[in-house]
Amino acid sequence: MDKIETYRLLVQQVESLIEGENNPTGQLANVAALLHDTMGWWWTGFYLVNSDTLQLGPFQGPVACYNIKRGRGVCGTAWEQDRTIIVPDVELFPGHIACSSLSRSEIVVPLHDNEGEVAGVLDIDSKDLASFDEDDALWLEEIARIITRHVLQ
Ligand code: SME
Repeated sequence: MDKIETYRLLVQQVESLIEGENNPTGQLANVAALLHDTMGWWWTGFYLVNSDTLQLGPFQGPVACYNIKRGRGVCGTAWEQDRTIIVPDVELFPGHIACSSLSRSEIVVPLHDNEGEVAGVLDIDSKDLASFDEDDALWLEEIARIITRHVLQ
């Protein structure tokens, strides 16, 4: 199955996995597990906005840092600029926060609440360089919208 087909299926699975539940931690944990298992990424998870900080949320993969300030690292930059950031080589991103020395590339997608405010980010790391492209961004943004509808409203 090619990447687009895989994402098409994932979008349906994410929706049916989290609709009708009222358990944000459990729902985000299940989304992280589904994405991580399906795609074979190195780290897949969520950071959630709390005041001026992104706090570690549900994830799959190696242990990670707890707090990221707005504007810091890839995650804090995606939050501040409210846009998806693709990093083909983490060593070339100024201020990248290295939770795992094995991470080589990364994508961070903002998550919004129902009023359009950034409520967190979906952060994904790969052990390979340049693992993420515009297709990943588009499909992960679709998954972020499903999360807004069912979790962050
Ligand atoms: N690399 C991220 C920090 C989070 S870890 O990748 C899990 C960043 O620079 O914001």
